Amino acid sequence: MKIGIGSDHGGFELKEYIKEFLEKEGIEYMDYGTNSSESVDYPDYGRKLSEAVIAGEVDKGIAICGTGIGISIACNKVKGIRCALCGDTYSARMSVEHNNANIIALGGRVIGKDLAIEIVSTWLKSQFLGGRHERRVNKISDIESNL
Ligand code: RB5
Repeated sequence: MKIGIGSDHGGFELKEYIKEFLEKEGIEYMDYGTNSSESVDYPDYGRKLSEAVIAGEVDKGIAICGTGIGISIACNKVKGIRCALCGDTYSARMSVEHNNANIIALGGRVIGKDLAIEIVSTWLKSQFLGGRHERRVNKISDIESNL
């Protein structure tokens, strides 16, 4: 599995920390920026990451900004993306089991680093349950198709 990771300046520090975790775990990743704490616009990074997921360059994505809100909204504008902003491990698991989230968003200024690692680790281990959840996720895709 190959993970894409992207952030704005508000998520930069947490992005670097999560990269260290991915390296330790031997999980391959692609970094879509940003590359410093200099102020940038989160939609640019949410978009890059989301387009990489849709193109199949990476299997899943981790998106980070200060709150996780802006970048998650941006990611969810890309057709086929289901980005879930998570601040706890239960939501992280459910976002995959029920919603088949292909991007997780985190708030770099909201959650601590260790909690972020637990959230990411839970999210990576979780599997979509399908069944009635598939029907519901398909209904989300129907909304997109009719835009
Ligand atoms: C940047 O200051 C901040 O607005 C951004 O990181 C994010 O929190 C937006 O939702």
